[in-house]
Amino acid sequence: MNKKFFKNLCALIILMPQVFICMAQKKTIEQKIDSVLKLMTLEENVGQMNQYNGDWEATGPITKDGDKQSQIRKGMLGSMLNVTGVDHTHELQEMAMQSRLKIPLLFGQDIIHGYRTIFPLPLAEAASWDMEAIESSARIAGIEAAAAGVHWTFAPMVDIARDPRWGRVMEGAGEDPYLGSLIAKARVKGFQGKGLGNTDALMACAKHFAAYGAAIGGRDYNSVDMSLQTLWNIYLPPFKAAADAGAATFMNSFNSLNGIPATGNAYLQRDILKGRWNFKGFVVSDWNSVGEMIPHGFAKDNYEAALKAANAGCDMDMESRSYIQNLVKLVKDGKVKMKLIDDAVKRILKKKFELGLFDDPFKFCNKVREKQQWDNKENLAIEKTMAEKSIVLLKNENQLLPLSKQTKKIALIGPFIKAVRDNLGFWSYQWPDDSSRIVTVWDGISKKINADTKLLYAKGCNINDSSTSGFAEAIETAKQADVVIINVGEASDMTGEAKSRSNIHLPGVQEELIKAIQSTGKPVVVMINAGRPLVFNWTADNVPAILYTWWLGTEAGDAIADVLFGDYNPSAKLPMSFPRSEGQIPIYYNYYNTGRPAKNDSDLNYVSAYIDLPNSPKFPFGYGLSYTNFSYSDIQLSTNSIKPNQKFTVSLTVTNTGKLDGKETVQLYIRDMVGSVVRPVKELKGFQQIFLKAGESKKVSFTISVNDLKFYNDKLEYIYEPGDFKIFIGSNSRDVKEAAFELLK
Ligand code: BGC
Repeated sequence: MNKKFFKNLCALIILMPQVFICMAQKKTIEQKIDSVLKLMTLEENVGQMNQYNGDWEATGPITKDGDKQSQIRKGMLGSMLNVTGVDHTHELQEMAMQSRLKIPLLFGQDIIHGYRTIFPLPLAEAASWDMEAIESSARIAGIEAAAAGVHWTFAPMVDIARDPRWGRVMEGAGEDPYLGSLIAKARVKGFQGKGLGNTDALMACAKHFAAYGAAIGGRDYNSVDMSLQTLWNIYLPPFKAAADAGAATFMNSFNSLNGIPATGNAYLQRDILKGRWNFKGFVVSDWNSVGEMIPHGFAKDNYEAALKAANAGCDMDMESRSYIQNLVKLVKDGKVKMKLIDDAVKRILKKKFELGLFDDPFKFCNKVREKQQWDNKENLAIEKTMAEKSIVLLKNENQLLPLSKQTKKIALIGPFIKAVRDNLGFWSYQWPDDSSRIVTVWDGISKKINADTKLLYAKGCNINDSSTSGFAEAIETAKQADVVIINVGEASDMTGEAKSRSNIHLPGVQEELIKAIQSTGKPVVVMINAGRPLVFNWTADNVPAILYTWWLGTEAGDAIADVLFGDYNPSAKLPMSFPRSEGQIPIYYNYYNTGRPAKNDSDLNYVSAYIDLPNSPKFPFGYGLSYTNFSYSDIQLSTNSIKPNQKFTVSLTVTNTGKLDGKETVQLYIRDMVGSVVRPVKELKGFQQIFLKAGESKKVSFTISVNDLKFYNDKLEYIYEPGDFKIFIGSNSRDVKEAAFELLK
């Protein structure tokens, strides 16, 4: 036995019981953390702030300097990402148990829209405007992932997105801060369930803090320049909502904001998040974003990058190795205060305690639980419902939809009809390669139709090339049918991280295929799969029926068949404005009016307009049809003026004037007519989902108080200002009834 080994062994024997004694004693978590902290060396402290990729699945370049295992055994690692499965997490946790202090590892993973059961992509779910459904989708993802050894999801992404060129719009809730905040809360609650400590709860991570969605030109990772008012009024509210809902962690972002990279941004992380919002969790960097402050031109080298990130409040370094290689020296050089390291480590240890990992590091490694969640039928049924609620009906001339199940011949055309992987979407890489489990559109429709209905098929073209060689067969197939369903869109790897597009038209020759089929004179239904708003003007103007089917996940085909044949009456509403052309981007409904607003789309009289394009979007925010129709009565106000301490009621009656039962999302918008800073032309402030039987009417009421009228002024105070307001209620942000009221002093 050599001398060093003997020394270590003695230390281990002396220290181990101490750790266990701290754990066993009836102390508060804070006291336990302090006891652990006292045992830790500076190197071990820094180790907790270090996170590595598990090497087998990466979302960025892997730093190759090997020997992660030995670092785990030395207590030089606080967390790993992309390590899942009971076997694998158990193996690595065992290594951590060989370290001096046996501090358990945290395992994180991007569970963005499902783990084993793949749910619709988050933007699609946002179209449901259904918080209960969104929460249960996140709940199931949490249950399935926690059963596979995962402790932490890097979700929800709560970035506001006004630019559909940005590939990551698919991961969020769209353009609106109010809807985005509700969804942020629902997802945090869903992932964290009844709270950390339960074996089915994941830690949530609100990301990417902050303003990542405003990357200039929609180009991923690009810089962001915005006024603080826009930051506070538009981009921060969903983060605040996530923090208030108890999100355990935050992730900072790749972008610089007004010249300071978010990762090294003390204003964001220390002043706002940990200061003004009093956030008690910890902040993880984005992948290598600490190191990327060097190419940003904000740090000379990794030493300076670590210095700036740590001082700015970034508690854990994902994959850049800047912390593990420099923080000890930075402390010894007096550049980073020990107090600050302690604060970061306390935050990280606190989560490990709350998860219960100090009591049982293998708490999430249970083979039986893992197996139970594999192919869980109940989860699949919930996924199907979520998918149905996410499908947006954009057009339905002459009530072509729903289709009759008695239709004799249906032609199914397009590259998505039999697609497997392309129905799952980006960030569903957890999916194992057993494609038989996904319900394709072909499968779903085949199951739905009567025995004597004939289904015909032709692919027509690929998603993204220029070949029209399949058109002739597709046209012949269409000619034989009573109705044609064409399924086109983006491949699932065309939206997502690093998937910005300057051209967001339907890719390849798909719109040409639609034209060719439409010219047969057969009734055509187009279904569009995508992770972002696309441009498809010809289709929108000429084809009688259009469904936006995003990527709907495991049960996509069944959900689509239910909608096509009327077993589910579509109810979804767009969470983003759909542009007519890329030239309108960024496009959003809550814009400022300007001094020269256009009266309408054809007003070009020295007003704020394009001479070659209307201002309005092709489909507005909040838009989505049903197989039935809803009419709105005029708005009634309980009073026309209120004092700041009063509330009032605004109501109207909605009637289902069609022949089918259906669900409507009644949307309330407010405009502050004159402010100390200019205010948007409309802001969503509430909505209600109501179900109406054919012919039925319901009174819908909203209560309004000054809380609905508040905003951040130029001093960033959250205030209301007396004066005139307008209220709009309708079925989307464009088609609304209007009324006015005054807020008195
Ligand atoms: C993404 C994050 C993600 C991380 C880990 C990064 O490239 O921006 O959203 O959580 O990788 O996979």
